[in-house]
Amino acid sequence: MRTLTLLASCLVLAACQSTDSSKVPWLTTPDTHSFARPGEVRSSHLSLNLSLDFEAKVATGWVTHELIRDDQTAPFVVDTNELSILAVTDGKGQELTWELAADQGEWRGRPLTVTLGKSTKKVRIRYATSPFSEAMQWLAPEQTNDKEKPFLFTQGQAILTRSWIPLQDSPAIRVTWDARIKAPEGMSTVMSAQYRKETDRLKEGSSTRFEMSRPVPSYLIALACGKLTALPISGRCAVWAEPGMIQSAAAELSDLERMVEACEELFGPYRWGRYDVLFLPPSFPFGGMENPCMTFATPTILAGDKSLVALIAHELAHSWSGNLVTNATWRDFWLNEGFTVYLEQRIMEHVYGRDRAVMEIALGMQGLQQELRELPEADQILHIDLTDRNPDDGMTAVAYDKGAAFLRRLEQVFGRDRMDTFLREWFDEHAFRSLTTDTFLAFLDERLLSSDYERAAQIDINKWVKGGGLPGDAPIPDSERFAAVDAAVASFLGGSPAGEIDTTDWVTQQWLRFLSGIKKPSTEQLAALDGAFEFTRSGNSEVLSAWLAIATRHGYHKADARLDLFLMTVGRRKFLVPLYQAVLDSDGGKERALSIYKRARMRYHAVSQRTLDEMLGYKPGE
Ligand code: BES
Ligand code: ZN
Repeated sequence: MRTLTLLASCLVLAACQSTDSSKVPWLTTPDTHSFARPGEVRSSHLSLNLSLDFEAKVATGWVTHELIRDDQTAPFVVDTNELSILAVTDGKGQELTWELAADQGEWRGRPLTVTLGKSTKKVRIRYATSPFSEAMQWLAPEQTNDKEKPFLFTQGQAILTRSWIPLQDSPAIRVTWDARIKAPEGMSTVMSAQYRKETDRLKEGSSTRFEMSRPVPSYLIALACGKLTALPISGRCAVWAEPGMIQSAAAELSDLERMVEACEELFGPYRWGRYDVLFLPPSFPFGGMENPCMTFATPTILAGDKSLVALIAHELAHSWSGNLVTNATWRDFWLNEGFTVYLEQRIMEHVYGRDRAVMEIALGMQGLQQELRELPEADQILHIDLTDRNPDDGMTAVAYDKGAAFLRRLEQVFGRDRMDTFLREWFDEHAFRSLTTDTFLAFLDERLLSSDYERAAQIDINKWVKGGGLPGDAPIPDSERFAAVDAAVASFLGGSPAGEIDTTDWVTQQWLRFLSGIKKPSTEQLAALDGAFEFTRSGNSEVLSAWLAIATRHGYHKADARLDLFLMTVGRRKFLVPLYQAVLDSDGGKERALSIYKRARMRYHAVSQRTLDEMLGYKPGE
């Protein structure tokens, strides 16, 4: 009997739902960004039932949590932020005692503590969201591509899910879930779940039902609702977008299935069923978000020539690094992003060739080196200490590009074959689990380092993971195509006319390298470049935003109107930050930046607002 029980609990552990938290070490790792006490009581499944009210900009309904209670005397504690809690009952509808604490400071929100009865197994919380829920962005029809219907999307990472669902908002805690969402007629709802295709999802009147049978962390629960349509790319891949954008979206992602196949070949089976991509309106604050089964993406990567699809390779790669094997706390964020950038680079090499991958790596490293010059030493560490800080502070090139460089260094030392075996084992043996940096380091030691001390001696692991700066052995590949660009930059800055630069066959990455080399240009030089290459009219958002930043910083006013339009339509933080910074750094900058921001702010998602409020010293309401 004992062995049977033991066997059974091992199996359950493998599925990541142990009933004994001592066997689940990451549940006892403190997560300073959540009030949940998963070692005592945790949710293992949640059922969501919400109605979306686009006029009031609120969602109302309830969530039911199914509990695992390791401590019979402990209460159930969930995170909330800006939620109105209306009632709390058990599975049978009996009222339970609950207490909503005071707001614990900016990003923490308010813990909701529910006292449990002896036999309470389920807790149902009735609630309503606020129109200011930080996860939700409610858009007016004018802010969409087709300008017909309003739009709603959620963004959970890192700790915003608590502003639309009361739950244990820590990436160490995984739940399976289902949902029933009621939306207005003529609008489609999609979620980061398995059943959401027109044909196989369960429609009931104006409700749509979803189910996620694999355990996921809370930040990966996502929803979007608007006038949407889908086009299949393959049997398991489709692109979703507003009807007016769907053709260009599908054309841009015609290699989607090939990317998934490349991933499977490199990193093991794709374990989430479908892989779809949803293009959101341009206010989406990120480039992409790896919501399971359905990546959410910015439409600003639709360049017309697939030149910006590395972003999709990145979000797809998260289906292994991040969604399958997840950072247990936000200080382990580099486990998600560093791995994912490394995987992204491998996918790009596989599908689009080494030249392209090498250029993208080099651009990433350039960005990293620039950021390192500005970041305090403590923030240059992969295993960053984020105690008492917004986890968003960890979203720097350090987690992404330094993390990836570390893995490229391991590959360089141990060889690609051993690296690939190592990665595959990492994913296979930790599937559907949340892990810390220390667990990774132990695994690295066991599977790679200890088997080959001679090679291991060539890498200072501690320096890479716990030190600041960029270790001198970081591999930065040479790009011939970039060498040609660098020569062109030098001759232009040396006085050669812009029109004489040979740019035949230049690709986007080369243009980005070119623009990064134009330091301190005169307005005449900017006019010459714009005359020759029409940067101000570029349809490529990366090239355009890089150009607008240079033009603005150096007083080339012919780009002003384009900058204004860009800032009024695009809400992607990665573009907004350098552009507003360029305005700030230009003559009369502060006033101009604030005048644009005051008009544009209401169009941005809370994530971008938060960053820009701080950057511009803007206090809402003033
Ligand atoms: N998971 C991130 C986005 C994210 C990170 C949101 C932290 C909130 C908190 C996503 O995978 C990502 O990294 N997106 C990047 C694109 C990528 C190609 C570097 C982005 O949006 O810029
Ligand atoms: Zn990512």
